[in-house]
Amino acid sequence: MDERAAVDLNLAGWDERALAHAAPGTGYRLEQYVEDPARVSDVVAFDAPRLGDLAGVRGVHLQCHLGTDTLSLARLGARMTGVDFSPSALEQARALAERAGAEVDYHRADVTDGAAVLAAVGAGRYDLVYTGIGALCWLPRTADWARLVSDLLAPGGRLLVRDGHPALLALDHDRTDGELVLAHPYFERPEPTVWDEPGTYVETDRVFTHTRSAEWNHGLGELVTAVIAAGLQVTGLEEHRSIPWQAMGHMVEVPGGEWALPGDAADRIPLSFTLQARKPA
Ligand SMILES: C[S@@+](CC[C@H](N)C(=O)[O-])C[C@H]1O[C@@H](n2cnc3c(N)ncnc32)[C@H](O)[C@@H]1O
Repeated sequence: MDERAAVDLNLAGWDERALAHAAPGTGYRLEQYVEDPARVSDVVAFDAPRLGDLAGVRGVHLQCHLGTDTLSLARLGARMTGVDFSPSALEQARALAERAGAEVDYHRADVTDGAAVLAAVGAGRYDLVYTGIGALCWLPRTADWARLVSDLLAPGGRLLVRDGHPALLALDHDRTDGELVLAHPYFERPEPTVWDEPGTYVETDRVFTHTRSAEWNHGLGELVTAVIAAGLQVTGLEEHRSIPWQAMGHMVEVPGGEWALPGDAADRIPLSFTLQARKPA
């Protein structure tokens, strides 16, 4: 599939899903952020010890979706800018920030088009680029993404990305017998893997028109190499036994809104990773 067609396919899918994800009672529980001014997303709470003090930090959140994590980072003291290519996701994110009384600057841009992102939010201005949790799989090339991250950062600025581990993303997710079976590419390929799935990852009664999506996996070594090649210094690489979504039916919920493989299987394969890097001052 042509790359432009793949990105357009994904945009149509995300635009439709953003509305369903924002509906009251879904996994994103937007109302909680309005009711409780101290509420921070589970995703950001997981990252908080790694993020440290965010007071006054200028942050940009790539692929911010409904802005729950962006808002959470703002609540931890950062001055946040959010970027996403879905107009309906951004509409929800802006509405959430307004209802929550937070100042977050949202911009529409396609992250596969680095020049467009830089034109929208400015180059070399950020102390923190934050992204992940279902973000990198929508991008064809880690090399382009890493260059964009580097271009966004001010000297001394840093990247924190936590996302689904490429080893997990290569598994057959539909197995119901508990076996971990490699069924999809681990390494980056020009051609995306195209899925056709009727639903989404939150419970909803909505019927979607756009059911196809195109994803790219990126090996961990490819990702780290791309970040180094873009001029960043790697400061941390962790592999985790949990992930904030139920990627396979037999995963069990663990504290903090995370999911893990049951029993001994938890030690067999990493489910997510955190990569941190810094731009030299
Ligand atoms: C699973 S969400 C991840 C966001 C966040 N971790 C969350 O769970 O709220 C994926 C987001 O990536 C955005 N996205 C996908 N491809 C994109 C692209 N090429 N440019 C900008 N945003 C993109 C989608 O619109 C969606 O909001």
